[in-house]
Amino acid sequence: MMLEVGTVPQMLVGFPEGRIFAGRLAEELGLPLAVADLHRFPDGESLVRLPGSPRQAVIVRALDRPNDKLVELHLLAGALRERGAERLTLVAPYLAYMRQDIEFNPGEVVSQRILGRWLAGLFDRIVTVEPHLHRTHDLAEVFPGREAVALTAAPLVGQWAAGQGAAAGGWVVLGPDEEAEPLIAAVAAAAGVRGICGRKVRRGDRDVTCSLPPGTDLGGRTVLIVDDVVSSGGTLLEAARAARAAGAGRLLACGIHALFPEEMLARFQAAGIERFVSGDGVAHVTNTIALSGLVAGAVRA
Ligand code: R5P
Repeated sequence: MMLEVGTVPQMLVGFPEGRIFAGRLAEELGLPLAVADLHRFPDGESLVRLPGSPRQAVIVRALDRPNDKLVELHLLAGALRERGAERLTLVAPYLAYMRQDIEFNPGEVVSQRILGRWLAGLFDRIVTVEPHLHRTHDLAEVFPGREAVALTAAPLVGQWAAGQGAAAGGWVVLGPDEEAEPLIAAVAAAAGVRGICGRKVRRGDRDVTCSLPPGTDLGGRTVLIVDDVVSSGGTLLEAARAARAAGAGRLLACGIHALFPEEMLARFQAAGIERFVSGDGVAHVTNTIALSGLVAGAVRA
């Protein structure tokens, strides 16, 4: 169902798979919500329908499984410009194609740069949460000439852990690899507990190994494994194995963006992970940590 809106100064546009998060954000921002209606033709093309001609729009779409979504975003942004929109903000709680930031092997396309130029051509402002940036330190470099805001969910994850009794329970926050260090330090500080990071070696999409610093003794403590993205789940399973080998007690896990199929939860449980929680930017059955307040603050700013 689409919300019928005519010419309005500003509106928030969501997509069907992300309507819950879009609704929360619209409420936080006090904006009318319109959900784009999508039709997929038998040959795979998309038809996008959206009533209304806003002068400004905040368009919300998490870019997990991004390929079709990107084309639909392009169609929508193009249509809104044709209808006279002056300012378009993209809220992509999860931003795709950020990992490939260099040519790791000869001939590989540097997706981050190309995607950045594409989105910079469509939107005036891009807001995201915990983008997967390594060698690029400032998100603005990805979107030439545009405003870009990278938010961290670390304080919210830390507050969630604190609410679960992390400090009194002597929890440890564990990151699977050194790249997670800033995230882990911030989560641990907000939870009032110790944070440690392991080391990860990736050999393939689903082939990773994690090890903890030599001599790590988790002494039966509750361990909260935190990662920015949980995609195949391989990294999390390996981190759980390493934590148990180092003497962890209860195991909990948090992925800020949960991209894995629900069926993986049984494998997490079999690996000893008692509970998995995620941020609600990507719709998932594990959504626990509300990101809409954080994102609304950045959209308003
Ligand atoms: C990698 O650098 C990220 O922080 C995550 O650890 C990674 O994307 C997780 O991927 P997967 O769940 O497929 O192992």
